[in-house]
Amino acid sequence: MSDAATVRRTVAVTGAASGIGAAIARAFATDGWRVALIDRDDAVRELAAELGEDHAPYVMDVSSEASIEQGAKLIEAELGAVDALVNNAGVALLGPAADYPTSDWDATMATNLRGVFLCSRTFGSAMVGRGWGRIVNIASQNAIQGIAGHVAYSAAKAGMIGMTQVLVAEWGPHGVTVNCVSPTLVDTPMSRSTWPDEAKAYVVGKIPTRRLATLDDVASAVLYLSGDAAGMINGHNLVVDGGASVTFS
Ligand SMILES: NC(=O)c1ccc[n+]([C@@H]2O[C@H](COP(=O)([O-])OP(=O)(O)OC[C@H]3O[C@@H](n4cnc5c(N)ncnc54)[C@H](O)[C@@H]3O)[C@@H](O)[C@H]2O)c1
Repeated sequence: MSDAATVRRTVAVTGAASGIGAAIARAFATDGWRVALIDRDDAVRELAAELGEDHAPYVMDVSSEASIEQGAKLIEAELGAVDALVNNAGVALLGPAADYPTSDWDATMATNLRGVFLCSRTFGSAMVGRGWGRIVNIASQNAIQGIAGHVAYSAAKAGMIGMTQVLVAEWGPHGVTVNCVSPTLVDTPMSRSTWPDEAKAYVVGKIPTRRLATLDDVASAVLYLSGDAAGMINGHNLVVDGGASVTFS
C-alpha cells in the first residue's frame, strides 16, 4: 500500500472522462487516493460513480479561468486539499502547417497550454502554501520529435516542458515537484480519430518494443511520479515510448 493510502491524499486529474485520464483516475483510486475527476464532458460523472463515494466528478473547462477557480473551491470543500495535479486534458487538432487554421491554433493552445498553466497556478500555489505537492503534466513524444501535421500540438507540448522547468525553479524549494510524462501513441478515442490503423502499424514498426504504449504504461508512470518515492525527481520528462525517440530506424 502506498503512502497516499495511509494519509488519504487527494489528486485532481483533468481530462478524466476518457482514454489516458480515465486510466490515471482509476489507478489513483486503486492506490488509495481520493480522486477529483475533471472534464468538460459530462460523461465524467459515470466514471466517478463507478469508482465510488470517495471520488467525485467536476464538469469544468480547463481553458477557463473562472471554471478552474470555482471548481477548485468546490473540490477542496468536498474532497479536501489537492495534493497532486495531473494535467492530462488535451485536444489534437492536426493539419499541415502551411494552411493550418488560426482558430485551431488558438483552440489547441487554450486547452493544451493555457489550461495547464491555469490549473497549475490554482492548485500548485495552494500546494506551495502547504509545503508538499506533485504536478504531472502529460506531454507527448511530439514535444521532443517533429511529426508532420502536429504544428500546434507539438508547440503546446514542448511549451509544457518549458513551463515545467520554470515551476520547478519556483516551487521546488517549497516541497512541490513538477514533471512531465511523454507517451508515444496510445490507443484512445483521441488517437483513433487522428491515426488510421495503417499509420499505427507504421509507428509500431519504429518502436523498439514493437508495440504502442498502453494506458497502464502511462498511468503507472504518473502514479510513481506522484508518490513520496519520487521526491527527488523534479523537472524530468519521463518518455514512455519503448525507445522510439533514442533510436533511428
Ligand atoms: N492518445 C495518445 O496517443 C497520446 C499520446 C501522447 C500524449 N497524449 C496526451 O494524453 C492526454 C489524453 O489524451 P487521450 O488520448 O486520452 O485523449 P481523449 O480525447 O481520449 O481524452 C481527452 C479528454 O480531455 C477532455 N478535455 C479536452 N479539452 C478539455 C478542456 N478544455 N477542459 C476539460 N476537459 C477537456 C476531453 O473531454 C476528453 O475527455 C492529452 O493531453 C494528449 O495530448 C495522448
